[in-house]
Amino acid sequence: MVDRFDLSGKRALITGGGRGLGREMAQAFAEHGADVIIASRKLDVLEQAAAEIAEVTSRTITAKACHVGDWEQVSHLADEVYAEFGRVDVLVNNAGMSPLYESLSSVTEDLWRKVIDVNLTGPFRLSALVGERMKEAGGGAIINVSSTASLRPGEMELPYGIAKAGINNLTTGLARSLAPEVRVNCLLPGPFATDISDAWPPELVEWMERTIPARRVGRPDEIVGAALLLASDAGSYISGTIIRLDGAMTGTVGGG
Ligand SMILES: NC(=O)c1ccc[n+]([C@@H]2O[C@H](COP(=O)([O-])OP(=O)(O)OC[C@H]3O[C@@H](n4cnc5c(N)ncnc54)[C@H](OP(=O)(O)O)[C@@H]3O)[C@@H](O)[C@H]2O)c1
Repeated sequence: MVDRFDLSGKRALITGGGRGLGREMAQAFAEHGADVIIASRKLDVLEQAAAEIAEVTSRTITAKACHVGDWEQVSHLADEVYAEFGRVDVLVNNAGMSPLYESLSSVTEDLWRKVIDVNLTGPFRLSALVGERMKEAGGGAIINVSSTASLRPGEMELPYGIAKAGINNLTTGLARSLAPEVRVNCLLPGPFATDISDAWPPELVEWMERTIPARRVGRPDEIVGAALLLASDAGSYISGTIIRLDGAMTGTVGGG
């Protein structure tokens, strides 16, 4: 039987792959045969995650330190990965952050720039550098990670929502620019119980459980089915698409 989700012989680069949704995807890709490079700021966290995933999957998992909001560090990451491994078959722009602030007017220039840099500028730069090389090599898949905030931003996540709306647009634009060799798609999660959820006050969790049609937030491992679809031959004619994983939180297709 053909396993259309098989990633044997593939090499995946996942930003923010040391914890949360990124780690779930790193482990799932390795379980399906890929060697994986995980990249974020904290090398010690990455190295521990890499060792744990390698132990259970027997794949090669490599940790690389990179601040994805820093243009130079992102350029260096791409160069280093290509110098060491020669190719990337799957890129997942997963690293992201959504710092809290007290009011719209309390948003500083520093916070604004950091949120845009980490959530949008880094994915643009890394996709440009890896995507062009994928196209030249004849194939590849890029997966961007957006958020329901890109469709319906709350008052306390507006810079983040704006950056993630840029990710949705980046997905459409890259899918057209890098076709036909490279497929580019987007995962759009609603609330998932990763480290991010530690900061959620109990009343917010209670409100989400009441109002999300699925009546609960997502489990981190629930990201992997859609990620595997977009990374593998199972999704060979899927490009320029946004897949919402939000328990119907954002309603009809197109958001709102
Ligand atoms: N969980 C949710 O409810 C939810 C909902 C919608 C969208 N998302 C999106 O899903 C993605 C993953 O979220 P998560 O819930 O897994 O978050 P998480 O558990 O907080 O993990 C965030 C990851 O991003 C990395 N990261 C943060 N800032 C970075 C930087 N400047 N440079 C490089 N790496 C950085 C972190 O690693 P280091 O600390 O080592 O840098 C970590 O691996 C994000 O893009 C997030 O916006 C999450």
